[in-house]
Amino acid sequence: MELTEFETLRNFTSEYLEFPPFVTAFNEIDRMVRLYRETGVASHLVVTGESGSGKTTLCKALETKYPRTSIPERDIVPVLIVAIPPAATIGSVAEVMLTQLGDPSPSFGTTSTKTARAVHLARECRVELLMFDEANHIQDRGQSPTQYMVGDWLKSVMDHMQVPTTLLGLPRVEDLLRVNEQLRRRFTRHVQMALGQDPEDNIESQCLQLFTSLTPSLPVPFLKGEMSWKELGHRLHAATDGRVAFVKSLLLGVIRLVFEQQLTRITPTELALAFTTQIWREGVNELNPFSSTFEFRRLDRAGEPFERGALIGRSNKRRQNAA
Ligand SMILES: Nc1ncnc2c1ncn2[C@@H]1O[C@H](COP(=O)(O)OP(=O)(O)O)[C@@H](O)[C@H]1O
Ligand SMILES: [Mg+2]
Repeated sequence: MELTEFETLRNFTSEYLEFPPFVTAFNEIDRMVRLYRETGVASHLVVTGESGSGKTTLCKALETKYPRTSIPERDIVPVLIVAIPPAATIGSVAEVMLTQLGDPSPSFGTTSTKTARAVHLARECRVELLMFDEANHIQDRGQSPTQYMVGDWLKSVMDHMQVPTTLLGLPRVEDLLRVNEQLRRRFTRHVQMALGQDPEDNIESQCLQLFTSLTPSLPVPFLKGEMSWKELGHRLHAATDGRVAFVKSLLLGVIRLVFEQQLTRITPTELALAFTTQIWREGVNELNPFSSTFEFRRLDRAGEPFERGALIGRSNKRRQNAA
């Protein structure tokens, strides 16, 4: 039976991809939970990665493994994911915690009563893993006194809870740990979500593996033509910066082309078109990694899609503009 475009898209987006740093981080955190269950020992981990490298998805994958349940008196929440809000203050982070734990009036009370209630409720709900996502928002406040205060608050919540804790955020979260010695001592282990951490395997070949793990879900065959696999790996790395989000959006663009143009096969020409529509509108000719005239360099200069510290939102906006 022929699949419709929407069915294809659903199949394509439904599964977790097991790319190496994702698996490493998942296993490490899973081990922390099991160690805590067996021994009561709480160990902690920092996970850093650029936007679109899979940090939030990692939180969701752990929540899927240890799902919420209900007993008559209360909810059991083994994994508590707290997304640090932009320009975080202690009060706003405590409110997110309370909301996630089902507190009926999360904004009620002073900062310290909110915190005490959050810690109490987290214990009642038998939280066994705390995951603070978007930890870089602690820094976005800019003011180092606030950073210190939120950092110290985090440390004190961890001390009260005594459960394994994961801090996830952009690479600059390392700076937060650098300036806050107390936090640094608690987070000695670190996993980076970027591809290419494995000394045995280069980033280009990992990009290629991620890409080829997805091609069987495409509606028609992918034919690379004359291009060697190695060269395709280089081009894919340049086009996606080794971030799972971009590999997926590239292929989502390709799926759209297949249905729009009723294609019977996918070639690097379609990858080039999808790069322009999905990742970077200005990415044409020597700035398009799938073009024959591509410059073969990282697209990380100012205004380019992988400029350091740039937000993925910008490419989303461009995508909307392009649509
Ligand atoms: N392991 C994975 N398997 C499948 N898709 C993933 C995986 N990790 C990330 N993604 C996809 O990549 C996109 C960005 O991931 P996300 O977890 O939000 O990144 P981050 O939080 O690091 O910015 C999402 O659309 C998500 O579906
Ligand atoms: Mg995220």
